[in-house]
Amino acid sequence: MSSTDTYILGIESSCDDTAAAVLCNDKILSNVVATQEVHKQYGGVVPELASRAHQQNIVPVVHQALAQAGIEKSQLSAIAFTRGPGLMGSLLVGTSFAKSLAMGLDIPLIEVNHMQAHLLAHFIDEPGFERPSFPFLGLTISGGHTQIVKITDYFEMEVIGKTLDDAVGEAFDKCGKMMHLPYPAGPLIDKYAKAGNPNAFTFAKPKVKGLDFSFSGLKTSVLYFLQKQEANQPNFVAEHRDDLCASFQKTVVDILMAKLKKACKETGINRIAIGGGVSANTGIRHALTENKEGWQTFIPKFQYTTDNAAMIGIVGYLKYKQHVFADVSVAAKARYLF
Ligand code: KG4
Ligand code: ZN
Repeated sequence: MSSTDTYILGIESSCDDTAAAVLCNDKILSNVVATQEVHKQYGGVVPELASRAHQQNIVPVVHQALAQAGIEKSQLSAIAFTRGPGLMGSLLVGTSFAKSLAMGLDIPLIEVNHMQAHLLAHFIDEPGFERPSFPFLGLTISGGHTQIVKITDYFEMEVIGKTLDDAVGEAFDKCGKMMHLPYPAGPLIDKYAKAGNPNAFTFAKPKVKGLDFSFSGLKTSVLYFLQKQEANQPNFVAEHRDDLCASFQKTVVDILMAKLKKACKETGINRIAIGGGVSANTGIRHALTENKEGWQTFIPKFQYTTDNAAMIGIVGYLKYKQHVFADVSVAAKARYLF
């Protein structure tokens, strides 16, 4: 520790994970995530319950992050928090907590865009992980978003492709539900796909112009296919679970890779960095690392792909260096475009 070191507390509460992290400059000292189990029984996130759980979790999660980092509150240089996008009730908990703490400690407050943070997580100093140089393309794939972003500098980002309907994680979760898998089904589909044949079944691929995505057609295709099969064979899903998961996952991977290929061609950029919960997917990681396109791919450490506060903290550090601080009147923003 030196007197020139910067200590940032990052706070994330945009959806159903209450998270806090402490950074010393661009290094992670602690990264605590409390995942809300309450939503499982409803098959998706219930906003009212998420907000209530954040209120219960935020104080213990922040305490734990400080304790694990071995840092006293008084040593903090600034507090960074997720301003949006996300669920309003959830965002309000993190926002008001961050504001009060920053005021109480009389230190700067830094507002962070969650989607930018998913991509800037690549700038965390992590042994064995290289940082992308500018410009690069970001593929943000999560339960709420699917975007291709052109990144020319830390805060110069342009969304060049996005989903017109469902996010890719939503497609995983909803199709998983049709296969009678619990929420969130993404990690389970990934697990079962490993033992399945990706060419066993064929599902519809959308025809969307440009760099945009659509996953609602794929969802319908899976639904009709399963309804038809289960009408004749009630145990169809149970008997073909692994093949169904592998075939579904392959379809998603093909859709994503085709758009990335197009994006690289159109922009002339061949550096690709992924972020968001779905980037934990083995099929996607494999397709990116095995790609024959000559891309340089950047895949973050698993704990920095799903929702976490380390990514909020690194944006906090980058903004701190540029003296970009928020006023205490800053408000949460459910729809926060950049
Ligand atoms: O980024 P994230 O933690 O939360 C937001 O949506 O912002 O992403 C959660 C999503 C869920 O839809 C979950 O099913 C999906 O990421 N997911 C996966 C995998 N792990 C998480 N989808 C496919 N394969 C995985 N291994
Ligand atoms: Zn996210």
